[in-house]
Amino acid sequence: MKFYIDTAVLAEIKEAHDMGILDGVTTNPSLMAKLGIQGKDAIHAHYKAICDITSGEVSAEVLSMDFPGMVAEGEELAKIAKNIVVKIPMTADGLKAIKHFKSKGIKTNCTLVFSAGQALLAAKAGATMISPFIGRIDDSNWDGVQLIYQIVDVFKNYDFETEVLAASIRNPLHIVKCAEAGADIATCPLGAIKGLLNHPLTNIGLAQFIEDSKKFA
Ligand code: G3P
Repeated sequence: MKFYIDTAVLAEIKEAHDMGILDGVTTNPSLMAKLGIQGKDAIHAHYKAICDITSGEVSAEVLSMDFPGMVAEGEELAKIAKNIVVKIPMTADGLKAIKHFKSKGIKTNCTLVFSAGQALLAAKAGATMISPFIGRIDDSNWDGVQLIYQIVDVFKNYDFETEVLAASIRNPLHIVKCAEAGADIATCPLGAIKGLLNHPLTNIGLAQFIEDSKKFA
């Protein structure tokens, strides 16, 4: 499973990159706005700064809601760096835009996917990856990981090349469960990735090794 980090914070992206496990980055307008990054120039400059840290795929989201706007915006975003993936919302215009970008050889990430039916449509349109938001599904009292199993099964039936990118991940267990379900990618907050490092037996074992090494020195 590929690991993406879900943030616009450059220091976090650098930290995950330096850990040696980073395959890409996802952002969204909310994450950008949280940092006060607004307006086309500032947003594009920030994507460029992210692409300077990692050569992995970097999802950059369009803000337009209509097909011509998505195409114009996505084409500009794709020019920022060769690892930009244009992130497009799951709407009818979004599907048209995905098909357009596929024909131009530009990668897309179809976002805000909450059902297998939506995933199927995005794959048929030619999305490079789709983003089911598992945390938000859990928040709504459904089972987000179950949706990953379902989409992975559906895609296998038809040999779709579209990758399943589990998004809206909230904790380390979500990451492990998505790997069990066969997600191609998980995009995670840094805290959830670092949470995978923890096991008390590792800490106890390490302390024991250090202690023993002193005894026989
Ligand atoms: O990758 C999608 C993510 O940014 C949404 O996460 O926690 O706002 O549901 P969350």
